[in-house]
Amino acid sequence: MKIAVLPGDGIGPEIVAQAVRVLNALGQKFDLEEAPVGGAAYDVAGHPLPPATLELAKKADAILFGAVGDWKYDALARELRPEQAILGLRKHLELFANFRPAICYPELTAASSLKPEIIGGLDILIVRELNGDIYFGQPRGIRTSELPLFKGAREGFDTMHYSEPEVERIGRVAFEAARKRGKKVCSVDKANVLETSQLWREVMIRISQEYPDVELSHMYVDNAAMQLVKAPKAFDVVVTGNLFGDILSDEAAMLTGSIGMLPSASLDKNNKGLYEPSHGSAPDIAGKGIANPLATILSAAMMLRYSLGMPAEADRIEKAVQKVLAQGLRTADIYTEGTQKVSTVQMGDAVVAALS
Ligand code: IPM
Ligand code: MG
Repeated sequence: MKIAVLPGDGIGPEIVAQAVRVLNALGQKFDLEEAPVGGAAYDVAGHPLPPATLELAKKADAILFGAVGDWKYDALARELRPEQAILGLRKHLELFANFRPAICYPELTAASSLKPEIIGGLDILIVRELNGDIYFGQPRGIRTSELPLFKGAREGFDTMHYSEPEVERIGRVAFEAARKRGKKVCSVDKANVLETSQLWREVMIRISQEYPDVELSHMYVDNAAMQLVKAPKAFDVVVTGNLFGDILSDEAAMLTGSIGMLPSASLDKNNKGLYEPSHGSAPDIAGKGIANPLATILSAAMMLRYSLGMPAEADRIEKAVQKVLAQGLRTADIYTEGTQKVSTVQMGDAVVAALS
């Protein structure tokens, strides 16, 4: 099994190192090959996604990704910014289906900013489309405005679009996922304003007929943002487009106490995938040894389950994480009074120890 290991920027290298230790402690043979990505790749190769890194990602069975981005690259042209690395990987490898589970571990309810009765036992899944929408739509750019009122002024523009097959394939992914869980799909759109969303909704209704055992509902994105903090447990699977999914998945993640706990998977149609924590590169805490490695460790577990066909090993990792939480070990982001604050490496040590 070849795994491309792309640590990236900020806290990426620290947290990926712990996930790699956990993988190596499973007693299986993995062929791990590391390559630079994001700002780190720009520094050594002049591009956030150098050809060699893309090649490695293509030939690997799965990709373990850290995070990209740092303020020091903010002044670069958009096509050279670290974020282009993750967008490029998603696009080149056709990783269109993004799974972002938001699970509230019982030990961590106190770390959430919401009341325990609102989030206790929370287990929802955001299925975000990753290859389309305004993220990749053409035309886009900065031009001179033709609007009578603002004629001659500079204007930025982007294009939102979704074709029927794109909506169908992400819809099916969501319905299939719901079948294995609570059998409810909530499709989030802005059909009261956007044509793209109107078509999205039509397609969701059409394919829902293939899944009579799954209940489909629809919600406008503004309302969904509200319901997520009001009654998050009412959701099971949420399916939405690239832009809305970006925003709602951060919101959902934070319900659980810390975005530092949540893994994610981005899959192609054959279940080859890229696995990354849902949080970003957090350059403000990079190098301090305080980042939470659990989201990345749990992403490695998702990788074993979805792409490498090793569910027993995935279970072992997830149980080990639950064990260290039950032992009271906490990185700074999930620390509450009465628990024991540990560093990134100490958390990795504890998970490795809990595997056996
Ligand atoms: C995410 C991130 C990315 C996105 C950025 C880094 C381009 O926010 O994975 O959610 O917007 O998709
Ligand atoms: Mg995001």
